[in-house]
Amino acid sequence: MPRFLLAGGAGFIGHHLTRALLDAGHEVHVVDNLVTGTMANMKEFEGRRGFDFTELDISQSVPSGDYDRIVHLACPANPTDYQALPMQTLEVNSIGNLKLMDLAKKVEAEYYFFSSSEVYGQHATVPSNGLSEDSASIIHLGHGRSPYSTGKMFAEELVKAYYKRNDGKYLIIRPFNVYGPGMDPKTSYGRVIPNFIGWAKNGKPLVINGDGLQERSFCHINDFIGCMMQIFDKGMPPFDTVNIGNPDPVRIIDLAARINALFKNDSPHRFVPRYEFEPLFRKPDIGRIRSWVGWEPTRGLDEGIRSISSVPDPGGRW
Ligand SMILES: NC(=O)c1ccc[n+]([C@@H]2O[C@H](COP(=O)([O-])OP(=O)(O)OC[C@H]3O[C@@H](n4cnc5c(N)ncnc54)[C@H](O)[C@@H]3O)[C@@H](O)[C@H]2O)c1
Repeated sequence: MPRFLLAGGAGFIGHHLTRALLDAGHEVHVVDNLVTGTMANMKEFEGRRGFDFTELDISQSVPSGDYDRIVHLACPANPTDYQALPMQTLEVNSIGNLKLMDLAKKVEAEYYFFSSSEVYGQHATVPSNGLSEDSASIIHLGHGRSPYSTGKMFAEELVKAYYKRNDGKYLIIRPFNVYGPGMDPKTSYGRVIPNFIGWAKNGKPLVINGDGLQERSFCHINDFIGCMMQIFDKGMPPFDTVNIGNPDPVRIIDLAARINALFKNDSPHRFVPRYEFEPLFRKPDIGRIRSWVGWEPTRGLDEGIRSISSVPDPGGRW
């Protein structure tokens, strides 16, 4: 069975991936500096065969073990976190990324880099099929979100250039708005689905940025992890970048109405000014992954929302 190194494995996606890999019989070494992740996410794996954890900042150093697959998930992903941590965000996508690729080269491991749909920037409209891996990017520089979007964009270029110069196999993964249980354990405020649920459960108005007509495509974590496991099972694909997400977008105002209905909250919404440079549309074209492994997301939004049982009151923009 391949041995995995998960950098950033104590975060939201990482701990779900750790569970799926251990359940499938793989060995998993998680390294994480816990800047946004938490040991609470690692607790369920304590004592499990094949599991190991090291607290480590990969922008400073990487472990010296022997691995078959190295997965780079390490980066603050909640906008509240990455806007507060621009330097760490840029370092982990550049220095940390390079250190992990050097390790992958040394031990001849496959390399999986987690990028983001934020590399597309602020498109005013989106093609009806969604954003494909080859769609252009429109990023405005010099504001709160740009260290994350440019960090991911630089990281993608660094991975491609590195593997032009060096032998090895790699894949760049662009997740589109993944959600589910266990998001944002440290910063409770920052991502829209847990925020809305937290407010709705506490009978508070849902705070909507702008008019709420902006669209997002939300992919449930179980669908997302299922896709990753299919990729690992099948092996490296004949392309270098892949979008993973749910191609069925929802307007934020409609998401708010659904969450209020599910939690029987009748407080009127509270509208606040839109964040500057917030993307208005975000919808993936998943044709590439669909034809590679036959993957299709299956969790509906209501079912997905119900799967998030405990979220704290997020406080936030009050
Ligand atoms: N969740 C999403 O919807 C989404 C969307 C697009 C991209 N992504 C990407 O997927 C990856 C995982 O996202 P997530 O939602 O689980 O975020 P997260 O913040 O919950 O997890 C990131 C983890 O990386 C760790 N980390 C950060 N810097 C580190 C460093 N220098 N050294 C070691 N560990 C470090 C954090 O402590 C945390 O445990 C990130 O790279 C993110 O950019 C996520």
